[in-house]
Amino acid sequence: MAAAPARVLDTPDPSFSDLLAARPALAMDPLAGLMVEEVPLARIAAAVGTPAWVYSATTLKRRANALKSAVAEAGLNATIHFATKSNPNLAVVNLLAGQGLGADVVSEGELRAARAAGVPAGMIVFSGVGKTEREMRLALAEDILQLNIESAEEAEMLSGVAASLGRRARCALRVNPDVDAKTHAKITTGLTENKFGVPIALAPELYRRMCAMPGLEPVGLAVHIGSQITQGVASYRAAYQRLGQLVRELRAAGLPVKRVDCGGGLGIAYRDEIPGTPEALAGAIKAGLGDLGVEIMLEPGRWICGPAGVLLASVIVEKIGQDRRFVIVDAAMNDLLRPAMYDSWHGILPVSPVAFTAPVSAADVVGPVCESSDTFTKGRELPALPPGSLVAFLDAGAYGASMSSTYNARPLAPEVLVEGTRFAVVRDRQSQEALLAGQRLPDWRAA
Ligand SMILES: Cc1ncc(COP(=O)(O)O)c(C=O)c1O
Repeated sequence: MAAAPARVLDTPDPSFSDLLAARPALAMDPLAGLMVEEVPLARIAAAVGTPAWVYSATTLKRRANALKSAVAEAGLNATIHFATKSNPNLAVVNLLAGQGLGADVVSEGELRAARAAGVPAGMIVFSGVGKTEREMRLALAEDILQLNIESAEEAEMLSGVAASLGRRARCALRVNPDVDAKTHAKITTGLTENKFGVPIALAPELYRRMCAMPGLEPVGLAVHIGSQITQGVASYRAAYQRLGQLVRELRAAGLPVKRVDCGGGLGIAYRDEIPGTPEALAGAIKAGLGDLGVEIMLEPGRWICGPAGVLLASVIVEKIGQDRRFVIVDAAMNDLLRPAMYDSWHGILPVSPVAFTAPVSAADVVGPVCESSDTFTKGRELPALPPGSLVAFLDAGAYGASMSSTYNARPLAPEVLVEGTRFAVVRDRQSQEALLAGQRLPDWRAA
């Protein structure tokens, strides 16, 4: 496994004001406190309780449209397929579908969610290294745009399933370009040591075989080199150059290639990262693939929805340990897993306008789950936060709710969508009854 790039945390954390200034979805009202668009988070907490996920509809739309403009201005014939794994909430996916985005799905559940959210089947791509036969049959029954094939074995399997239904499955071959995306080891996918895709050297032979399989209609290639890519777009550029060469080679052999799925992965600034821009990404696609007349697909997730969401939490208590201050909040690693899983940094803002400018001291912010890794941050400069104080974990719109679990028998938190002065609960808090639902004692114990 490639080592994660060393995290440069020797720079001071951004100030509350800097965090706010870089996030147009948020504002600090001197009376109402921290707001998402024009809705005070305190109002949402009073209405739905905490923890709760809060998403800005305007930010989702703005970012979807920024990506669309970047590819259009580069002259690319491109469609954008939102990676629903980053946030499969129906209201979010529906809103993005309303902006003309399709969906990238990786399971039956995500495919059903995309359809339920109103994404046309012809705008859905099915990715993932382990699709089951049942998922393949569903994708064929729905007649989705394409399935991305990740191995020779999967190609045979899909061909068999499609042929048994008298169909030919539109598919692309996911190529592993052996490019280091220089992201966290747990979310890099474009190296030959990763489980994803087919090594680029083996792709021509497999693509040729796929073209001869009775149940397949190969339409092109796919690539996705990793997630939270923040070191410019050089690795994208390298991957798309390799893909471009492969397209030429396949065509020279008389094989049809009409589409290239360029994947997702564009990073966001959680702390002080300076990720590549959509314009730079579009430029990298154009440089590698622009003269081939291929249809381009993109599968971004995090870039669109990450900055659109916060996780709103309440302080349960502050505990003063030996030389340490712990702020214990009612959100935990079961809600927002990223810090425990990837050592991720999330901005944390107090919601109260008084706390926003109050003196600060270093604190560890932790959840109530019985794991030491249930730690959101260590040594963060925060004001005094008495019980009941609200805090917002920033940039929690991607891989937040979608990675939640019910660990420690904690119900899933509700999701709220804000637009202007309105807000709506778009997913209820899971009830205690729902947590127990579906469980039973074996009949030999029930008596
Ligand atoms: C195949 C594929 N496409 C798209 C994405 C979306 O990535 P991101 O949310 O980083 O844009 C992922 C996530 O890793 C993925 O595996």
